[in-house]
Amino acid sequence: PAPVQAPKNERNFVKIMQEQGRRVIFFYGSQTGTAEDYASRLAKECSQRYGVSCMTADIELYDLSYLDTVSPDMLVFFIMATYGEGEPTDNAVEFWELVTEEEPAFSKDESDPTTSLKNLRYVMFGLGNRTYEQYNEVCRILDKKLINLGAQRVGERGEGDDDGSLEEDFLTWQETMWPAFCEALGVDEHSARSGPREATYKIDELEISPDSDNVYLGELAEKSDKSKIIYDAKRPYLAPIESRILFDEPDRHCLHIEFDITDSNLIYHTGDHLALWPSNSEVEIGRLANVLGISHKLDQVVDVCAVDKAAAKKSPFPVPTTYRTILRHYLDICAPVSRQTLMALVEFAPEEIKPRLHELATDKDAYRLQVSEAVRNLGEVVEYVVSGGGSPEGVLAGVPFDLIVESISRLQPRYYSISSSSKETPKKISATVVTLAYQPTTSPERTVYGVATHFLYNVYARSHNSNEVLKAGGYPTYDIQGPRNTYLEPQVRLPVHVRRSTFKLPRNPACPVIMIGPGTGVAPFRAFVRERAFHKKSGRPVGPTLLFFGSRTQQDFLYADEWPGLFETLNEEKEGEPNTASRLITAFSRESAKKVYVQHRLQETGEEVWGLINKGAYLYVCGDAKSMARDVHQTFVNLAVAYGGKTEEQAHDFIKTLRSTGRYQEDVWS
Ligand code: 2AM
Repeated sequence: PAPVQAPKNERNFVKIMQEQGRRVIFFYGSQTGTAEDYASRLAKECSQRYGVSCMTADIELYDLSYLDTVSPDMLVFFIMATYGEGEPTDNAVEFWELVTEEEPAFSKDESDPTTSLKNLRYVMFGLGNRTYEQYNEVCRILDKKLINLGAQRVGERGEGDDDGSLEEDFLTWQETMWPAFCEALGVDEHSARSGPREATYKIDELEISPDSDNVYLGELAEKSDKSKIIYDAKRPYLAPIESRILFDEPDRHCLHIEFDITDSNLIYHTGDHLALWPSNSEVEIGRLANVLGISHKLDQVVDVCAVDKAAAKKSPFPVPTTYRTILRHYLDICAPVSRQTLMALVEFAPEEIKPRLHELATDKDAYRLQVSEAVRNLGEVVEYVVSGGGSPEGVLAGVPFDLIVESISRLQPRYYSISSSSKETPKKISATVVTLAYQPTTSPERTVYGVATHFLYNVYARSHNSNEVLKAGGYPTYDIQGPRNTYLEPQVRLPVHVRRSTFKLPRNPACPVIMIGPGTGVAPFRAFVRERAFHKKSGRPVGPTLLFFGSRTQQDFLYADEWPGLFETLNEEKEGEPNTASRLITAFSRESAKKVYVQHRLQETGEEVWGLINKGAYLYVCGDAKSMARDVHQTFVNLAVAYGGKTEEQAHDFIKTLRSTGRYQEDVWS
């Protein structure tokens, strides 16, 4: 998320709450914006429905050591995402360190740490993903720590599973949370207001030309003095790019893209992630504009500002801007629309479609089948409910645009495992990206296109003059110029930043390394192998390096031309050093009658792999979290049984220990 204002100088949130007369604060630890959205939604409910003055707060912008100074009539919400291997989100690191410290340094000097937070009453909701080992670890640990420090939790701790039913988990948790909230604050639950909706944002159409200098046309942060810029999650860098095709199949295209960060102060380390800010396709912009009845005025300049004058964010994105820009750059209009958003829209919908819209908003099964699993965005849901019954044009023309801004999340960057080595090319970052397109099982007649991967493919095709390919393939088209042509002139550039990760090679290159990365999961391992070859060339001893790679056939064998040279370097015999037998082991799944996957190759190579583990090998897995990473984990367990003489349970514990000591690392996605 990109707050538009500079960090506050005043970091004492309790002081701010007192000055502004707020009883409740909603802190969010957010990586991709969902926790932030949830915090805003709760805050809206809190102020409008229960009439309790509150504020939302990016946890990074405040000093949480003041937690021990909250007054007993206040309530503090923590809406905390767990990211990666049980880690806090970037914006919550400081808070995490404060609370998980042996003796947390709160602002007052308390003699008894078990009561230092005795005045704190808090509510906790965690966002996690069950495909990861450490499910909702951050909210669980924080909860425990706060209680140990004498704080009192109000209601049950909520946990949402992004792999299943995050939205439903969030809604269900609220059913018991609000009564507890009312009791804690002495609010009469039954007198809750349910009057007409109150807007969060005010939209003003301005009489300015969209060409005026002060109008934002997709800039992701406010314009400011260049010399002071720190490029980060809130302010991406426009990096010059070069791209090439790694494989080109009729419906799948894989790109190698290099981002040049020479002219920025960005740094990266091998194993980090690159965040890329996509735009929405013209197809989806057109679809939603049509449904909202604003196609004729997409270039109208508008101001969008918070109705609450004391709101932390004056505007959700840089303003003034245009409707087109909002749909193209600022709102996530392609994601499946939430049930709550549909519910909010019902009252503004024409009578003919009200019942069907209401059904999707209230019937969980209908919603799951026709919206979430069918991956229908707002425009598509409207097309779906009117289908057969006329044209979707202007069907939602009665919806105030501020409701759209309020209900649809901000467009977020997409993260890619960096496939270059920072030792070898410190100023060039590469990403390995395959276009994503699939037919949802509950709506197989439609194709869903990955927003960012097709954006990148458009950029590639346009800069290589292969427009026809795009047209022939029926792919969504994008406007790739960026604000005022900045993405194209003087050369192709895209907005990026770097996210640090804990996915790291062992410090000592002599350590053996075993990597498993099928498909684009090989990306960080290209970086790892290149880095180890780089060390070898500069004369350092490098240990055995095994890479297991899998793809469908030879056609999508990534970086096939690079491996022989790299492994030759790794195996160069040096006096006094043993032969490393470093190599690439491939599994082509569709070249034989029976599927061969990386885990089968791992099993076949079991004895050697086990030998390397005994010599201190580091294990790395990258790619699909759900099936591949699980199967690979089980295969390692099997090896510990077969070659280590362990029982199944001991083998599990053994792998667990490898994980907790950093010798088994995953960079996986679902
Ligand atoms: P498949 O698509 O032929 O089933 C990269 O995507 C490679 O990973 C492909 O060869 C793909 O095979 C394979 N793959 C699919 N599911 C897998 C799993 N559960 N474990 C390991 N590899 C898998």
